[in-house]
Amino acid sequence: MNIQHILSQKIKQAMIAAGAEPQCDALVRQSGKAQFGDYQANGVMAAAKKRGINPRELAQKTIENLELGDLLEKAEVAGPGFINLFLKNTWLAQQSQQLLQQQTLVEKVTQPQTIVADYSAPNVAKQMHVGHLRSTIIGDAVVRVLQYLGHNVIRANHVGDWGTQFGMLIAYLEKMENEHADDLALSDLEAFYRAAKQCYDNDAEFAEKSRAYVVKLQGGDHYCLAMWRKLVDITMQQNQQTYDRLNVTLSNDDVMGESLYNPMLPAIVADLKNKGLAVEDQSAVVVFLDEFKNKDGEPMGVIIQKSDGGFLYTTTDIAAAKYRHEVLHADRALYFTDSRQSQHLQQAWTIVRKAGYIPDSMSLEHFNFGMMLGKDNKPFKTRSGDTVKLTDLLDEAIERAEQLISTKNPSLSEQELQQVVEAVAIGAVKYADLSKNRTTDYVFDWDNMLSFEGNTAPYMQYAYTRIHSIFSRSQIDSATLQGTICLNEEKERALAIKLLQFEEAVQTVAREGTPHILCAYLYELAGIFSGFYESCPILNSEDEAIKNSRLQLAALTQNTLRQGLDLLGIKTVSKM
Ligand code: ARG
Repeated sequence: MNIQHILSQKIKQAMIAAGAEPQCDALVRQSGKAQFGDYQANGVMAAAKKRGINPRELAQKTIENLELGDLLEKAEVAGPGFINLFLKNTWLAQQSQQLLQQQTLVEKVTQPQTIVADYSAPNVAKQMHVGHLRSTIIGDAVVRVLQYLGHNVIRANHVGDWGTQFGMLIAYLEKMENEHADDLALSDLEAFYRAAKQCYDNDAEFAEKSRAYVVKLQGGDHYCLAMWRKLVDITMQQNQQTYDRLNVTLSNDDVMGESLYNPMLPAIVADLKNKGLAVEDQSAVVVFLDEFKNKDGEPMGVIIQKSDGGFLYTTTDIAAAKYRHEVLHADRALYFTDSRQSQHLQQAWTIVRKAGYIPDSMSLEHFNFGMMLGKDNKPFKTRSGDTVKLTDLLDEAIERAEQLISTKNPSLSEQELQQVVEAVAIGAVKYADLSKNRTTDYVFDWDNMLSFEGNTAPYMQYAYTRIHSIFSRSQIDSATLQGTICLNEEKERALAIKLLQFEEAVQTVAREGTPHILCAYLYELAGIFSGFYESCPILNSEDEAIKNSRLQLAALTQNTLRQGLDLLGIKTVSKM
């Protein structure tokens, strides 16, 4: 249930009855301060201006036309024409009770959309590095949220598995196989790539062969294709280990690499030429876009085919968007890449729209993100200046979490410790990323992310275990709780409202691709619960009805925290 949505509809109706235009927007938001009510409608001012009436008068009239019903205690005009909305306790109690009973915390969408999520997208014969980490983590959280709401989500791992570098990589793989080197060298893809490049740069015969292999590969030569496949498979096997460690839902079935679109490219270039969008320019094929200016203020030229016949990253993305419409029937396509790829995507999409490859109803959305920085505010690197490998990063997370947890709770058994360490280590890395507004750069700081204070994974996981222990200590099964919830105390009321706002947070993430909204929500929920717990005794409550009511609020909080963290791909444990 989405309170904001229900109120928006209600206020809008009353506004229209009071004289506002039918297209008006009530602009209902959660209030920042208790004295302004639980929600506040801010749309009256704009609506009054449109009609040339006094905003306070319109606000007053709106309230007169508003049916408070079971939902609202009162509505008040404030300031220049805001409307403060106060929800009824009985309604909140009833709704939270229902939420606990119905075993699902959100309503599924009535019209599921097909949504393609393009995320992770590492490159073949290269290690995944921290740059792919953000895409993987943020993308996977958004995917989980969309699926949870009932959408049909297609994960598209746009792996960099095509291009001229494969000639050299095949030639080098062949060389290694001939020299009977075991596949050890491929366990370090970075080293493999570097060695291949070195041969290419220093050995003319090798370079010659590499170039020939590129041509053969593109021509569909069986041997070259088999070697190429080997490289792709080995890379993706290694990446899969990282996905599994990260508790990310991607599997090999989700790989839709650049190579998938390769057969579409010649026809697309020909079509763009036919449509007069692309022209030959110095023997390359270029699309000039008025929407983008080069440094001389002229329309920017986007190359879609090089003079040697090769296609580019942009050409592939034009094809990918087209494919996502024609083959996958997507309503939305979401792209999780860093902000530096923004212009690239906008150019590809401008061409896609101009060529009419997708309908207007299909959206293409760049869920961009900033860079991961070190504590020195520079791009996150190892001490020697190399990019940090994901596996090394996760190893370090485990090490640090082990130290943290074993000192914090020495009584855990070896098995329990392992479980908690894994949940905390991976959770901390993911949560640190997810809890920040993705559009800005963020500083990767071990001490912050592993702290038990503040908006961190350990804090959230610990908050969860505390509620869990209420039930395990008292041996009460939270699933069998029944009876009435009553909200007599301010803290009980505040907790109930927060719990009922879960769906609002989840829907925002689904719409805007912003997991930090869900993190902030869960963090606030944990804080409100802790305030409630301190001032409202649960198990020690003398009155059975109150005890039962509070237990239900605790159970609902527990469910919400678990579900919320699960949507973020973060594990909970029963003690830590
Ligand atoms: N493989 C690319 C990289 O490592 C990211 C691909 C993103 N997706 C896309 N459709 N362009 O930078």
